Amino acid sequence: MDYRQTIKSVSLTDIQAQAKRVSAIMGEIKTVMLAPIQKKSPPVIGTGELLNLCNIDRSKHIYRLSLKDLPSGNLNGNRREWTLPEAQEWVKAYKADYLKPKGASAVTITVANFKGGVAKTTSAVSLAQGLSLKGHKVLVVDLDPQGSATTLFGLIPDAEVNSDSTALSLFVGEEDSLDYAIQSTYWNNIDLVPASPALFGAEFALPGRQTRDSGFEFWKVLDLGLDSARLKYDIIIIDTPPALSYVTINSIYGADGLVMPLPPNALDFASSAQFWDLFADLSVNLHERNKEEKVFEFIDVLLSRVEASDTASSVVRQWIMEAYGDKVLPIEIPKTTVTSSAAAQFGTVYDVPKGSMAAKTYSRARDAYDRYCTLLEEQIRAVWNKQVESLKEAK
Ligand SMILES: Nc1ncnc2c1ncn2[C@@H]1O[C@H](COP(=O)(O)OP(=O)(O)O)[C@@H](O)[C@H]1O
Ligand SMILES: [Mg+2]
Repeated sequence: MDYRQTIKSVSLTDIQAQAKRVSAIMGEIKTVMLAPIQKKSPPVIGTGELLNLCNIDRSKHIYRLSLKDLPSGNLNGNRREWTLPEAQEWVKAYKADYLKPKGASAVTITVANFKGGVAKTTSAVSLAQGLSLKGHKVLVVDLDPQGSATTLFGLIPDAEVNSDSTALSLFVGEEDSLDYAIQSTYWNNIDLVPASPALFGAEFALPGRQTRDSGFEFWKVLDLGLDSARLKYDIIIIDTPPALSYVTINSIYGADGLVMPLPPNALDFASSAQFWDLFADLSVNLHERNKEEKVFEFIDVLLSRVEASDTASSVVRQWIMEAYGDKVLPIEIPKTTVTSSAAAQFGTVYDVPKGSMAAKTYSRARDAYDRYCTLLEEQIRAVWNKQVESLKEAK
């Protein structure tokens, strides 16, 4: 065969033309994409779900309604429904013991794994939603320049997020506190620090600052930057990029607890081994420079995207149990089938209204995240209690 027919040479001019075509198509997709997301709204909550969230029975609920001190909801036909803020008000009334005690500060949880596609972002946003349904005020910090968590909150990272509204200014050193970047979201009681591709600049800024000033501690920038937010929120959840970047190191250093989503398959297990190797090297390094040792209050390994029918996963599951022992949560997030609903694809299991078709497809994953939120809440309360104890001792 004539080689001229098989070789399809591509010049830089061709590539420039192709880049133009791709961005033109992206432009079209964006207008279509924006339409459903801009209308993003939180789900309405039925009475059954509200009773569950408050952990009360129907008669208690009816009695409390008669007192008229809590929102009375809206009648939809003969069913009573509650908006998200109304439901949160009810939950708070019944869960006073579970809320952040006076004097305690926000517990910071970083979701990390160097591998992409393991459900970091899905888990970070689902946990924020689940915990806010338990009455907590949550800040989500998106530190992945790809901005997937930002997208789940209905913002398009490239088009709608200005670099000044990301954590970049903090890492560059223009700001000392992350407060400037906090914005509210469609979900009551979850605020967001969004991300955009510009955030990648932090990977040059941080080592640059370290080179110019040997006393600079690049790994502490986020931790210090969150201090003011720790007083305003109950829980801070950080979503990280799939790399051991300078920003990821900051996220790990600033965390009270780590969550590592891990699908039970061989390749993901192998890459999790690298995560801990690199992490251990890093800890030794920082320990030497820092004197004081970093202590995590908890590390949770969360089996994610688990396929029930997958026989290979049971072998890998054994490796995971052997390697991570009691860090492995007694909860697995099952793999869900993708629904055709656009709203479901740009959201999490908490965005689909209960009772809808999508909700039925997602119910096992929703139950699993609910159970993890309950467990996580216990871990968070333990950290708050510890904080309060040490405050008392200091007095
Ligand atoms: N339980 C699940 N079942 C099915 N798909 C999932 C599940 N969790 C996450 N996904 C999908 O897997 C892909 C990667 O998830 P994502 O949370 O973005 O991972 P990461 O942040 O680790 O890269 C996304 O398309 C997401 O919708
Ligand atoms: Mg992600």
